[in-house]
Amino acid sequence: MNALEHLRITFLDHLKNRITENEPAGLYDPVHYILSLGGKRIRPLLTMMSAKMYGAPVEDSLDAAVAVEVFHNFTLLHDDIMDAADLRRGQETVHKKWNLNTGILSGDAMLIMAYRLFEGYDKDQFFQLHKVFSKTALEVCEGQQYDVDFETRDDVTVPEYLNMIKLKTSVLVGCALQMGAIIAGVKEEEQHLIYNYGVHLGLAFQLMDDYLDAFGDPATFGKEVGGD
Ligand code: IPE
Ligand code: IPE
Ligand code: MG
Repeated sequence: MNALEHLRITFLDHLKNRITENEPAGLYDPVHYILSLGGKRIRPLLTMMSAKMYGAPVEDSLDAAVAVEVFHNFTLLHDDIMDAADLRRGQETVHKKWNLNTGILSGDAMLIMAYRLFEGYDKDQFFQLHKVFSKTALEVCEGQQYDVDFETRDDVTVPEYLNMIKLKTSVLVGCALQMGAIIAGVKEEEQHLIYNYGVHLGLAFQLMDDYLDAFGDPATFGKEVGGD
């Protein structure tokens, strides 16, 4: 088994152990459903790899890794409502399988569950994690709004598009990596280095996703082509 696969298994184990809320089922079944649909788990793996690279035990990064994945899945849940998408990872979206109100409330619960995962960190790390996470979460909303605004415009410039995908997607990749650095005790003034790397990685990632949304094969893409 390669190192990445090992990290993925460690992450999936921790995800199962940390997300245990069950009742009421109408609220939590969709949470377990979307989290179990698979996905590449890129963001949590980046948090774990970053912590490891900076010298922290991987175990210390697991709660933050689950937080970023739960948050990411929350954004997908609400994004699928906004995009009226029927498919996510090749399976029915939450609002299609259940209904719109379920999608809204289970999504809200996931956002709160993500934040609660920071409760086990000491005061200083908690503050730093909370700060970058909140800043990022608000930027993701800003990016989503620009995305909506651009749907009715035919004069969107390349810089405007790049700023939109930076906010919608890339900052969360940067945040995932920065959280690993925080957990490893990297000084605040140096954390931006790994954060900036993540932002560039995230731009490339969203460019590819948008390319596949236009020209991809739904069988391998797992989402509707042209949906966004
Ligand atoms: C989908 O993200 C949304 C984008 C930002 C493009 P991913 O492609 O990481 O989704 P999963 O979690 O692997 O399904
Ligand atoms: C996903 O954006 C939602 C966020 C990044 C907040 P997209 O609409 O581009 O992603 P997919 O293609 O539905 O996964
Ligand atoms: Mg979408």
